[in-house]
Amino acid sequence: MFNMQGAIFDLDGVIVDTAEYHFLAWKQLAAELGFDFTRTDNEKLKGVSRMHSLDILLDVGCCTMSDEEKESAAAKKNTWYMGYLETLKQTDMLPGALEYLDYLRGSGIRIALGSASKNAVFILEKLGIGGFFDVVIDGNMVSVAKPDPEVFLKAASALSLSPFACIVFEDSLAGIQAAKAGGMKAVGIGKPELLLGADMYISCLKDMLFK
Ligand code: BG6
Ligand code: MG
Repeated sequence: MFNMQGAIFDLDGVIVDTAEYHFLAWKQLAAELGFDFTRTDNEKLKGVSRMHSLDILLDVGCCTMSDEEKESAAAKKNTWYMGYLETLKQTDMLPGALEYLDYLRGSGIRIALGSASKNAVFILEKLGIGGFFDVVIDGNMVSVAKPDPEVFLKAASALSLSPFACIVFEDSLAGIQAAKAGGMKAVGIGKPELLLGADMYISCLKDMLFK
């Protein structure tokens, strides 16, 4: 499709469903701070960096924190989140993700990860799929978060490909916007009305096996 030479994948919500674990950990932090944090609130955190997610959570609870308190709250949430990741395994991958990575590898398409997560390498290791990726660009390697295209531009450049030759697979609006701002094609994974601006929509990577 689109004469793709490179495929750039978001991680959370595209390859593996970690959103539930983020939710449980953020909810625990909210409970400690004395307010409720719902699944609907959690939707606002998709694709958003850890510190920006904390700002959104604090807005929900009408709380304020000093920068120092924020660092410590985010670190606490991450410890809980990583606890949930401990049991993550390959069978927890989203439908079709493993098969599609395998198919692309066999087709000679270059593959990158472009994720906001600072835990991306740890998650790839737990899933045992690091070997599929020619390049990994994660939250530790970017200075501006999605919807800025930095993460995807770095991924395309590390693949030695023009952004125009790459397709981004994303489940967040910020990610779709980042891909389009970077000049890539964007495949939205999820509801089209929540992912405006993508070039194509699928419900999961399994759908790509039948295109
Ligand atoms: C994104 C998730 O992939 O990574 C966000 O969609 C998350 O919900 C962000 O906040 C940062 O993740 P981490 O693992 O660095 O806290
Ligand atoms: Mg995502």
